[in-house]
Parts: sequence; C-alpha cells; structure tokens
Amino acid sequence: MTEKKAKIAVLVSGGGTNLQALIDAQNNEIINSGEIKLVISNKDGAYALTRAENAGIKTYTVLKKNFNSQTEFENEIVRILDENEIDLIVLAGFMAILSEKFISHYEKRILNVHPSLIPSFCGEGFYGLRVHEAALKKGVKVTGATVHFVNEIPDGGEIIMQKAVEVKDGDTPEILQKRVMENAEWIILPQSTEKICKQIISE
Ligand code: GAR
Repeated sequence: MTEKKAKIAVLVSGGGTNLQALIDAQNNEIINSGEIKLVISNKDGAYALTRAENAGIKTYTVLKKNFNSQTEFENEIVRILDENEIDLIVLAGFMAILSEKFISHYEKRILNVHPSLIPSFCGEGFYGLRVHEAALKKGVKVTGATVHFVNEIPDGGEIIMQKAVEVKDGDTPEILQKRVMENAEWIILPQSTEKICKQIISE
C-alpha cells in the first residue's frame, strides 16, 4: 500500500535556502507526511529553481509582467496548483503580494516563514534583510523566526512555531540573517510543514 502524503507546492523568489531545508528534510524523513510536488518562482532565474531542478522537482516560473492584472497572475498560480492537486502551499522567501481573494481560497493551507519573532518587525515593508536591519536598529538582544498560517493580515495569521536566536554585539544585518536562518528558519519551517501535512492527511 502506498502511504498517503500531502502534496506540497513551495513558492519562492530568491536564493531558496529555505526550499533547500525542506528538500533536505524530505530526504532525511523529517518531512514524512508530505511531498514537495513543485516549486513556483515569480522571479526569472531564481537560484531556488536550480535547487529544485537538482532535486528532481518540477518548476514553474510565473512572472507578473506577463499578465495584465494581479487576478490573471494569481489565476495562473491557481491553475498550476489545481492541476497538481496541491494540498499545502509553503511560502519560502516568496516576495510577491497575494490578494485577499487568493489567500481566503486557501484558508489554513498556506504557510509562511518570517525572519523575526512575530509580532515584532513584521507586516508591510518588513521582509528579507530589512527585518534584521530593524531589529538591530531597535537594539533587541533576542530575535528569531516564525512560521505562521497566511491570512489577509500581512504576517498576521495563526502562529505555528517560533524559535529564538541571540543577537550578538557587532552583528550586521547579513550576519544576523544567516544566524536566524541556520538556527531557526531551516529548523522550524520543515518541522511546521511536517506538522501541518500530518494534520491534512489525517483529516
Ligand atoms: C528568508 O529569510 C525568509 O524568512 C524571508 O526571506 C528570506 C528568503 O531566503 N522572508 C520574508 O522576509 C517574508 N516576509 P531564501 O530564499 O534563502 O529562503
């Protein structure tokens, strides 16, 4: 008998280190209840696409500029997700805005990883290095990462997991970003993905 697995789509825009953590977790059976079926990038040539190809995962590039509206852009993403019967969408450094209509269509079916301890340094305008710049500017001594469900409020959905990371004297945004990725994001994103996939297949 083949084991039932939730079908996962990972949406990316950049380097894809979180995607790599998901691929590694799948290979190491930390992710057991789900399988990454495809990767969608909204950026041409994103290195995340190479990582997916190296792992034998199907890739799609969907560029906003090729569509007349946000709705048409999202319809193309929905078409790909439907065609592949995707159960769970994981945003792993996906930097495009998704509309309320799209998000509400996938209630409790979209996960996002954010590089701070929400509700600090989150919401509109807080993404990537900017999050770490803001944390350093504020002078916090502890930061971290959060995995949460995506709802219509930016970074406002139910929190699934968080992990704290120490800020050290002399940190630059780049150094802090790397520490948060290594010690938090790459751990809690695969763990959260497994947790939610397990729930999905038991429904
Ligand atoms: C990660 O740090 C992720 O948490 C962040 O972008 C980076 C993507 O890196 N996401 C956000 O800021 C979302 N608000 P990656 O492409 O190497 O995974």
